[in-house]
Amino acid sequence: MGGHGGSAAMAAGTSIEAVEPLRIHHLGVAVDDLDEAVETYERLFGGAVEHRATVEDQGVEAASVRLGESRLELLASLGDDTPVGKFLAKRGPGMHHVAYEVTDLPEALRELADDGAELIDAAPRDGLFGLQVAFVHPDSAHGVLSELVTDGG
Ligand code: CO
Repeated sequence: MGGHGGSAAMAAGTSIEAVEPLRIHHLGVAVDDLDEAVETYERLFGGAVEHRATVEDQGVEAASVRLGESRLELLASLGDDTPVGKFLAKRGPGMHHVAYEVTDLPEALRELADDGAELIDAAPRDGLFGLQVAFVHPDSAHGVLSELVTDGG
């Protein structure tokens, strides 16, 4: 397991460290109709719903869909004035964000901030399905809204 974790790098303190992702945790997809999207991903790609939730304060109805070892997060809007609603109005259904799983989210955010990334969330917050999350502005990742996720045990 050599080389993993940030302790050696922190001790050195000489250079900016990149985030060390474990994997892509999920891809977020904005959809017009959640039931229809779930059915599509089940039928065409063998997806299996692992979680589904309506989160009023985030303005989304969402489903987490497993595809083998991987995962999609299907996101439908609860209104035009929500983040996903605005995305759909501007760009239509499609790829919304990429989520990277990290072991230490606060440390990863410090590293991103030190490296000049524009953070939408400066600190971890409650995301969907019990995850702790923070978003990074698409301008810092070549147009891709990026999310850091930790399952937090
Ligand atoms: Co996500």
